[in-house]
Amino acid sequence: MAKEMKGIILAGGMATRLFPSTIVVSKQLLPVYDRPMIFYPLNTLIKGGIRDILIIVSPEYSGLFVNLLGSIFENYGVKISFKVQRQPRGLPEAFILGESHIDHHNVALILGDNIFEDDFSEAIKNFESGGQVFAKKVPDPERFGVVKLGENNRAELIKEKPQEWISDYAVTGLYLYDQRVVEVAKSLKPSARGEWEIVDLHNFYLNQQELKVTVFDGAWLDAGTHDSLLEAGMIVKEKGISKNFHPIIEEATKEFCEIFKNSIKK
Ligand code: DAU
Repeated sequence: MAKEMKGIILAGGMATRLFPSTIVVSKQLLPVYDRPMIFYPLNTLIKGGIRDILIIVSPEYSGLFVNLLGSIFENYGVKISFKVQRQPRGLPEAFILGESHIDHHNVALILGDNIFEDDFSEAIKNFESGGQVFAKKVPDPERFGVVKLGENNRAELIKEKPQEWISDYAVTGLYLYDQRVVEVAKSLKPSARGEWEIVDLHNFYLNQQELKVTVFDGAWLDAGTHDSLLEAGMIVKEKGISKNFHPIIEEATKEFCEIFKNSIKK
């Protein structure tokens, strides 16, 4: 049987590309159609059977996350905790900040601004060891981590935002790793742009021949600019993505809205 998996949602950063919308609100709390953005990655993890989730937030907005998510899920068997990332030093820092949360388990990291139409619950539930990433064909691979695939979708090369074309497959913001990721993250050196890079974690597993790549076709949205945020909302509506949330999210949200309405009436 697969080991219990812990979840982490990385929802830090200042989202300056979305100023002024994100001056007082975190990007990951902005609405995407009819739900706060963070509900989408939360849904991906909960659908995958993960019930212990750490949300990493920036200090400016930490109180907002606690207000929204701090208490509504505990009655539904989902434990949510928070950690502050003082500065955005790179995605691998999630595993360093999350070391005691991970506590030698397997872990799924998802970026707080990544919205997936597909349901990855089988992949998450069946994950046992090594690393696993999810790739999608895109028209603008230079904006992302990119993976070159060989026979049977075996990863041959992974690069972060390559200047020269290597493949059309973007590595999206959902990553499954075994417990070794914590020590590997701690051993990384910052890149030329001064950040710890997630690609170095992928490459650790690739070099061990333990990196699995799953290619998918469904919509994948990262809502980092005003235009892509608007487009994400329209695609979510059109495809009914938020209508297909796990019942835990739906019920907890309904209860929370009721409590909130009643507190206003008083
Ligand atoms: O969206 C998928 C892409 O995400 C991958 O293809 C890339 O390999 C990966 O590096 C990442 O690229 P981005 O350019 O989108 O990364 P960005 O720095 O924008 O960070 C993604 C999200 O994570 C963003 O919402 C802010 C948050 N973040 C980022 C960093 C670096 C943090 O919370 N803390 C951080 O230290």
